[in-house]
Amino acid sequence: MHQQQKNNRPPLDPGLNGILLIFYLLFLPSLLFSVFLRKTREELRRISSETRVLHQKENLHLRRFLSEIFLHQPSAAFFSPSSAEMKQYEISGTTLSVALFTEVANSKELLELMHAGTLEPEVALLNASLIPDIFPVLAAAHKTLVSKSRDSLTTRTLHSELVYNYSGSKHISESLKRCGISDSTTYVLIARFGASEEELVAMKTLIKGKEIDLEELEGRANKSQILKQYKITAVELGISTLGDAITCRIASRDAL
Ligand SMILES: *[C@@H]1O[C@H](CO)[C@@H](O)[C@H](O)[C@H]1NC(C)=O
Ligand SMILES: *[C@@H]1O[C@H](CO)[C@@H](O)[C@H](O)[C@H]1NC(C)=O
Ligand SMILES: *[C@@H]1O[C@H](CO)[C@@H](O)[C@H](O)[C@H]1NC(C)=O
Repeated sequence: MHQQQKNNRPPLDPGLNGILLIFYLLFLPSLLFSVFLRKTREELRRISSETRVLHQKENLHLRRFLSEIFLHQPSAAFFSPSSAEMKQYEISGTTLSVALFTEVANSKELLELMHAGTLEPEVALLNASLIPDIFPVLAAAHKTLVSKSRDSLTTRTLHSELVYNYSGSKHISESLKRCGISDSTTYVLIARFGASEEELVAMKTLIKGKEIDLEELEGRANKSQILKQYKITAVELGISTLGDAITCRIASRDAL
């Protein structure tokens, strides 16, 4: 008797139908949408925390590497005051000697010697327009020494490997062309690992140009060329210097 009453329920009145329709059409989709939003927000939170972990790893890697570098000023007795600009850095127990030149007149000749394998002493020659500060070069030098210690140099010599590692790219010949020098390059950074005192002198006479201080790197760098080479965005530049952006790319290449 009770059951029968239930089955014979009168049809819902049109007003109630309308309300249910509104419920299905408006409320349900917005409920589903809010569930979807919550999922998305959770996903975003997960991604951003993963990104933070990656950044921390990257920073740790950088910090560990930076703690291994020491600056050595070459002994004053050995260098005349006019050539005091050359600097030596100690990286993982090896020195890297670096000097910067403008108005270089013999790039073509240097390139020929390099291709013939008769450059004496062997050095790395970099297009200094792409170097806003010395740290990315040191980061690349560090990677180069790591490759050497694993007997896994990709290029012909330790010094071409430095140019390659500085490029942050995988294309070898393209990297050497872009970050190395061309016939007409007039602004050059020269670097050599483990140079003896005689070799330091020879390094300087190799280049026909005017030696300037490494502090000039920042002011002379070609920002638009750097942004293009390293695919650095304006957003990234808002939170990082050009030099740090390059260093991160070099240092984190196989760490991530
Ligand atoms: C630089 O050095 C590392 C070794 O630490 C190597 O794996 C990498 O392929 C090299 N090249 C570039 C362009 O980073
Ligand atoms: C290399 O340096 C010269 C100036 O010395 C510049 O004109 C040229 O565009 C640079 N090359 C690259 C690929 O940045
Ligand atoms: C930087 O390089 C670009 C393209 O290679 C060139 O057009 C521009 O004049 C350079 N800027 C400076 C300040 O040298």
